[in-house]
Amino acid sequence: MTGKMGTPHSVDSDAIERTPQQRQQEWTQFTDQWAQVYRSVYEDDQDVLAGWTDFVTGERLSEDVMSQWLECSRRRVAALAKRSVLEIGGGTGMLAAKLAPSVDRYVMSDPAAAASDVMMARATDSTPITVRAAAHETHYLDALGGPLFDCVVINSVAQYFPECAYLSFVLAQITPYLADDAVIYLGDLRIASLHHEQCRERARRLNPFASIDDIDGAATRLAQSDPELLVSPGHIGRCGASLGEEDGSQWSVAFYPRPMRSDCDLARYRFDAVLYRARPGASLPVAAAVTRWEDLDRVDRAGALHDYLRSGAGEIVSVPNSLLLGYGLSPFELAQQYGEYAVSIGLDDPKRLWVAASADALRFDVHANDWLRSSHDIHEPITVFRKRTSSASSTHGGGLS
Ligand SMILES: C[S@@+](CC[C@H](N)C(=O)[O-])C[C@H]1O[C@@H](n2cnc3c(N)ncnc32)[C@H](O)[C@@H]1O
Repeated sequence: MTGKMGTPHSVDSDAIERTPQQRQQEWTQFTDQWAQVYRSVYEDDQDVLAGWTDFVTGERLSEDVMSQWLECSRRRVAALAKRSVLEIGGGTGMLAAKLAPSVDRYVMSDPAAAASDVMMARATDSTPITVRAAAHETHYLDALGGPLFDCVVINSVAQYFPECAYLSFVLAQITPYLADDAVIYLGDLRIASLHHEQCRERARRLNPFASIDDIDGAATRLAQSDPELLVSPGHIGRCGASLGEEDGSQWSVAFYPRPMRSDCDLARYRFDAVLYRARPGASLPVAAAVTRWEDLDRVDRAGALHDYLRSGAGEIVSVPNSLLLGYGLSPFELAQQYGEYAVSIGLDDPKRLWVAASADALRFDVHANDWLRSSHDIHEPITVFRKRTSSASSTHGGGLS
């Protein structure tokens, strides 16, 4: 989801240093407000696509784009071939409806779930169980019991988290409920290092005749007031690294573009991350031989890339993403040709893609030093909320206005 139709108002404009209790309280206030926004969207509009708007145009996303978007998440999770799924922030159950029929167990929670859905203790296999709970409230998992989860889905939800520390906290909270070979799918994350560019596009759209300086100024203001969380691969890597600290488990991570047929905001400015837990004693992926796109035969680079991958030689890095650079290849073309998990976004430059003959080559040990080098861009909306006046009833329509 891009700009959602409403923005929760300020939590506490003066909070700077927080005790753990204050932080929890602030997180609860923050998430309650998003839950309220979503509850009213879902109540007002029974349509499952309610509230999905394009960040750049502010217009409602078309059914065609939304079905590509949904299919992209469905394929991604289905390809993981897991059997026991916990979906956090499942919303109207769009994804659950697609995935639940082919797994043994599918549990879904969402703080905006309608009261009538609360704690439907249906033990039926393949039936989504909707629990009214925010991501950090995991007590209901004890009450549910049942087998451990081998897959957690957090799809298009993390942008409503207040800050990166909340994401780490949520992941730490759920690890006791995870099987040894579990995966955590973080779908549709917003790319922090492309935030300004995305806001510039929106500013240009709002005022096509403005000067470059004015557009830049407007983009900066839009970015600063954006109520959503934007992260970089490095942050997800660091969240993964903190996961193993508690119980000694080993994790690797990979970052994928969103391969959609249409060139749209959702395909350009989002990425998926998958955290993989390694069974005890299992070895982590080993780096493959790397060749740069620029070093391939200039006359037919796409053909050279094809030959290289077919020979199983390793991976090609720095492939220009044509959606963002206007030349090169698109994530959709590459995923069609080489597979869902064969294409990664560049760790240091999300406008470049990495393509590998083996999907394993695109998984990285969360403790690898590369994380220290990768982008530190981040946008944490908790600061936006603190800065805003706490004038009680101010809910702002139209996303980032
Ligand atoms: C854009 S919808 C995504 C729905 C679903 N995951 C999908 O992909 O179709 C975002 C959902 O996140 C939920 N949400 C917002 N903040 C949350 C939080 N802190 N914990 C869990 N869910 C949250 C909202 O209530 C909303 O239903």
